[in-house]
Amino acid sequence: MELDDRFHFLKPGARVVDLGAAPGGWSLVAAERVRATASDGKAGRVVAIDLEEMAPIAGVAILHLDFLADDAPARLRAALGGSADVVLSDMAAPATGHTRIDHLRIMALLEAALDFALDVLAPGGAFIGKVLRGGAERELLDMLRHNFAEVRHVKPPASRKESAEIYVVALGFRKSAATG
Ligand SMILES: C[S@@+](CC[C@H](N)C(=O)[O-])C[C@H]1O[C@@H](n2cnc3c(N)ncnc32)[C@H](O)[C@@H]1O
Repeated sequence: MELDDRFHFLKPGARVVDLGAAPGGWSLVAAERVRATASDGKAGRVVAIDLEEMAPIAGVAILHLDFLADDAPARLRAALGGSADVVLSDMAAPATGHTRIDHLRIMALLEAALDFALDVLAPGGAFIGKVLRGGAERELLDMLRHNFAEVRHVKPPASRKESAEIYVVALGFRKSAATG
């Protein structure tokens, strides 16, 4: 909510993918802001995926699935019915307590999320992903800067101060740019 208040990527009618969506806080906000339940023909769409079960949310299509499964990208695309305007990823594997391992796992999830975003986003689209303090690594950041007009690292006020999580916000997807 705080990220969107600042960057305004959840526009009415937008199509959103929420990766690592359980228990559903982000999906709920996204569904409201894109007007996913509107009946005027201008409704947005939200597709959520998580390893965990989620309670139904009005206007949100929920996939109970591992995003890293081979068929996950195709199933998300099918549920979306086309390209996306926004890809959100708050995915995080359970912490092991080993800083280095936790960092590697979260970066692997972010990399997979970005890979999917580069494939599914429409021009002008946005990618929001969870990273750890220190931010996206050089290579990933270069890829983001190459493919998006604006790339920022943000720690929203609701994110616990002692937690190492921050978010990368990438806006203005350039569809024609080579992904690498
Ligand atoms: C911090 S929580 C997300 C909270 C959510 N944004 C909300 O507002 O309710 C992180 C989620 O990522 C999910 N997750 C981690 N790895 C995943 C994977 N490979 N595929 C799908 N979901 C995954 C976890 O199950 C967990 O529910």
